[in-house]
Amino acid sequence: MSSTAHTMPGTTSLPESVALRDDKAAVRIVDQRLLPQVLETIDLDNAQDMWDAIFQLKVRGAPAIGVAAAWCYYVLARQAIEAAQSMQDLRTRLAENARYLDSSRPTAVNLSWALARMEAAADQFAASHAAASPSDIIPVLEAEAQSIHDETVTASNEIARLGASLLEDNWGVITHCNAGPLACLGYGTGQGPFYYAHDQGMKLHVYVDETRPLLQGARLTAFELTHAGIDTTLLCDNMAAQLMREGRVQACMVGCDRVAANGDVANKIGTSGLAILAKHYGIPFYVLGPTSTIDLNCTTGSNIVIEQRDGSEISDLHFAQPMAPAGIACYNPAFDVCDHSLVSAIVTERGICRPPFEESIAALFES
Ligand code: MRU
Repeated sequence: MSSTAHTMPGTTSLPESVALRDDKAAVRIVDQRLLPQVLETIDLDNAQDMWDAIFQLKVRGAPAIGVAAAWCYYVLARQAIEAAQSMQDLRTRLAENARYLDSSRPTAVNLSWALARMEAAADQFAASHAAASPSDIIPVLEAEAQSIHDETVTASNEIARLGASLLEDNWGVITHCNAGPLACLGYGTGQGPFYYAHDQGMKLHVYVDETRPLLQGARLTAFELTHAGIDTTLLCDNMAAQLMREGRVQACMVGCDRVAANGDVANKIGTSGLAILAKHYGIPFYVLGPTSTIDLNCTTGSNIVIEQRDGSEISDLHFAQPMAPAGIACYNPAFDVCDHSLVSAIVTERGICRPPFEESIAALFES
């Protein structure tokens, strides 16, 4: 795969979860819906399949969604130049593609962040090369998508390194959802420190919430951690309080999908509950994510749109038979907002933010 210049630290025999195919005509992703039973890549070469892959969580995890969106934009641009009559016509087509891809999921800001970067690169080129042939824009867009990809890997690895500095040998740590190599590329964010620490010879015991209803913890995190040889125990989401009460957890680490300017954090449904438990038991609660996941336009978590998904994910999807009365009303938000007062620190590639977050987050963006 042509964009796979990166290796997967700690999980080296796994393919990178998002890449541009060698012939540059498709985006190749690991189909995360099939794991852990089947490790398979699929190719996305049209807008509908790309939208579906994001919506159906074949590619998922905020940073991976951003990288996938950038490459999808690029692949669609290669197709658009065939029909485009002029640079202006091409810009209209690219903007339509960006809007369409952006409508696939609302919560992880990395999706719109990556598409906005691709659009800005296209705008800049079109403004200064109005008379150029539409095909001239392609190398510019490829370079921008590659930068988004490379920066995501670099950020992920740096977050893993910084996050590991918050851990100590022989600690028990708990995590929620999946924020490792599949979701973030590189080491990962919420779980990156576990792989980094493991590679440094540190011993940790990682407790993994199964993460109802789509089981990203059981299917993906437990798969990745055991594949890397890390001591891992799976639990149901509602068991964390007992685990903490028994004194088995010294830190919580999770990823994030959108962080507001005041430090409120949207992440996988169940994150906020875990943070409330951690506060009760006096356990530090760390949120880890790249600065591309911080949305300064959101002043607080109340501005974050929480995706609502189909109720069948709760009542039917992972059961041999439906486990609830037919037609039962289901409440199925995919994310929740964790109040900043519950967060001990937010770890980014530019440094570790401590409360008060309004100040420490703003400082990340001061040049
Ligand atoms: O619905 P998902 O699986 O895309 O949700 C992912 C999460 O909530 C992750 O914890 C988050 O993206 C943080 S890092 C990948």
